[in-house]
Amino acid sequence: MYTLNVNGTTYEVEQDKKLMRFLRDDLKLKSVKDGCSEGACGTCTVLIDGKATKACVQPLSKMNGKTIITVEGLSEREKQVFAYAFGEAGAVQCGFCIPGMVICAKGLIDVNPNPSRVEIAFAIRNNICRCTGYKKIIDAIEMAAGIFRGEIEMKEPEEDVKVGSRIHRVDVKDKVLGTGQYVDDIEMEGMIYGSAVRSKYPRAVVKAIHTEKAKALEGVECVLTAEDIPGKNKVGHLKQDWDTMIAVGDTTRYLGDAICLVAAKTPEILEQAKQLVEVEYEELEPVTCPEEAMKDDAPLIHETGNILSHEHLVRGNADEVIKASKYKVTRHYETPYTEHAFLEPEAAIAMPFDDGVFIYSTDQGTYDTRHECSILLGLPPEKIIVENKLVGGGFGGKEDVTVQHQAALIAYITKKVVKVKLTRQESILVHPKRHPMSMDFTTACDEEGHLTAMKAVIVADTGAYASLGGPVLQRACTHAAGPYNYQVIDIDGKAIYTNNPPAGAFRGFGVTQTCFATECNLNLLAEMVGISPWEIRYRNAIRPGQVLPNGQIADSATGLVETLEAVKDIYESSPYAGIACAMKNAGVGVGIPDTGRCRLIIKDGKIHIHAGASCIGQGLGTVLVQVVCETLDVPLECLVYHAPNTSMAPDSGTTSGSRQTLVTGEATKRACEKLKEAMKEKTLEQLEGEEFTGEYLAKTDKMGADVPNPVSHVAYGYATHVCILNEDGTIEKMVAAHDVGKAVNPNSVEGQIEGGVVMGLGYALTEKYPLENCHPTAKYGTLGLFRANKTPDVESIIIERPGVSVAYGAIGVGEITSIPTAPSVQNAYYVKDGKFRTSLPLEDTPYKK
Ligand code: FES
Repeated sequence: MYTLNVNGTTYEVEQDKKLMRFLRDDLKLKSVKDGCSEGACGTCTVLIDGKATKACVQPLSKMNGKTIITVEGLSEREKQVFAYAFGEAGAVQCGFCIPGMVICAKGLIDVNPNPSRVEIAFAIRNNICRCTGYKKIIDAIEMAAGIFRGEIEMKEPEEDVKVGSRIHRVDVKDKVLGTGQYVDDIEMEGMIYGSAVRSKYPRAVVKAIHTEKAKALEGVECVLTAEDIPGKNKVGHLKQDWDTMIAVGDTTRYLGDAICLVAAKTPEILEQAKQLVEVEYEELEPVTCPEEAMKDDAPLIHETGNILSHEHLVRGNADEVIKASKYKVTRHYETPYTEHAFLEPEAAIAMPFDDGVFIYSTDQGTYDTRHECSILLGLPPEKIIVENKLVGGGFGGKEDVTVQHQAALIAYITKKVVKVKLTRQESILVHPKRHPMSMDFTTACDEEGHLTAMKAVIVADTGAYASLGGPVLQRACTHAAGPYNYQVIDIDGKAIYTNNPPAGAFRGFGVTQTCFATECNLNLLAEMVGISPWEIRYRNAIRPGQVLPNGQIADSATGLVETLEAVKDIYESSPYAGIACAMKNAGVGVGIPDTGRCRLIIKDGKIHIHAGASCIGQGLGTVLVQVVCETLDVPLECLVYHAPNTSMAPDSGTTSGSRQTLVTGEATKRACEKLKEAMKEKTLEQLEGEEFTGEYLAKTDKMGADVPNPVSHVAYGYATHVCILNEDGTIEKMVAAHDVGKAVNPNSVEGQIEGGVVMGLGYALTEKYPLENCHPTAKYGTLGLFRANKTPDVESIIIERPGVSVAYGAIGVGEITSIPTAPSVQNAYYVKDGKFRTSLPLEDTPYKK
């Protein structure tokens, strides 16, 4: 018997278990998040006798006589102060890490009421935040301490909630206090638990699946194999090549492949049952890399061949122009696999609903999830309803279904409510990663450093399944020439299937990789010409009216030059500074239908906002609220923002391609304009029950369109990053200037920049996702994610160059924030020690020996 006090109540417990399970499952204290269950992420942090401690590794048997405090146990004053400070500082994005951060803050402030920023960073060093880059979390804790000391006053809520104001996020209180629900926080009557038995080998023929023993175990609800699928086994975001389960006689493609699905009454029985499933395999030699996959005698990973996609972009004659150019440089570059490492592992709850299925999901597109589940179940899409709960980060890694379709199948067959969630280790294995790319780049310029031509060969390892490998390769190629004013290019890219984990969307969508090569080559040319890296960029920077390498005419919103000018002084005054620029599309582009939609419903005198556009932490709900307030001139109290639900919200596409602020923002504005007309005649009360819809189609030209200047994308964001090193080689500071058109909420934009840059720093310096013969060996704690006390300062500079005619001129900033970071860091080290590094993460720095 163990006796412990939790939030002021004493409990006597007989059964030993992990403290986190006791708090979450028995006491229903859901602010204690389950991010990894292995003591690596910090989302389950609680105070144990006043000390911030991870609850997932502590057994109850060690808690005898201890006092535990979770966020639910804070005083009302503390709750009020932390919610205010985190909101005011803009410290909350996806929110999954935040209750743990609040607990660290309380633990610190209780013993040190006036902590320094260094002390705050140290106090949260064991808690990972993948979204914010920590700066605003430190701001928030510093502010909270000031309020508790009586030195800072809490302001009244902003009256100006329109576009451009720094209002608190609409979901900040729920996220800070842990009352907002992520899927795993939901418990339902009669809920069972499901999970997949996964392949033992990356490539093996499944000879037999013996499920009898598992089925016979008391408490097992079902064991399903591919034969039980009522619709099609193969699903996939764009290309349906991903087997939901590998059938007997078929060959596995990676270690994450599901062989069967097991469901049971409790998680414990589920684990026992999975062990009882026996699978007979014929192990085969896996295809470990694109070079092997492209050999003539390579085994076929898919019947269609090992090349998922091939892009060849040609404008002018690059070979001739390069030959005739004064300066040219050729280098080979390598970039690695990267794991998204969002803090919330994948989870879904599905339940029977009429003769279909209802799904609670954490994803980047409820309609995508609905589409894939309808393929699997063989049901019309409208028989499946998908609702997003809070999404604990995505960064591209939640665009594909991972658990949703498995949960849907179990619910459909058993007619029971089921939860399927991935362990952290499964998450690290299963969802698509950032593509590793192998790149040969030749770049040429004239005597004065004006770029003349470039030629590139890009090979991407796309792993076992298509996911978004095709479009990622396309963006890698279409952006490979950089944001510069020259038009002769020859870019050849291939995405190749292997037996590695699939690669797909990841913040930057292929551009992160090619930008590294483009920008590094540029610095070598600058050296040959005898001008600075800043100067060569300034001379070539695309300006309004000029033509981009892809043929598109740069519009009046093009603000690359302003980002360069904004960093000039700091760049030139620092002895060890590196610089890089980038452009990134906002919107899907290249002629693919790209539509934002919004539906406003007037109910009880309020405007309810429904848009099928996932907020994955970037703050889309707040963006839409600000757009409504701006367009209608109504106060915040009039609005209710609803998370996407396919039965209520119109399809607004995937949260991908930095598109939602622009396309769904404009659709919302258009719906508001209709409502505004109606409000000239009637009050909101008189409009009760009426609906107003808005739609915006971002029109672009197809790849290879036969027009002289195709519009590849409706908008581009532009950026310049500067990396400044200390004498000892550590990073003193990153400066990131971004042209965002219009910052709908500057707090959110800064948060995107700070978080994106720190993610870029991880990519440049520390992050790794090693594979041994197609087996990922990383754990969450070894991914190399930056921690608060090691993260350098990030200064964000927002440039608002007007010109985009929709969504109040706002250009999405979600992805570009991570893109120029790595090459700017590479350049800084080159300046410092003269070593020209060509692969990531960079070798021989204080961050990686
Ligand atoms: Fe910290 Fe998302 S806000 S992980």
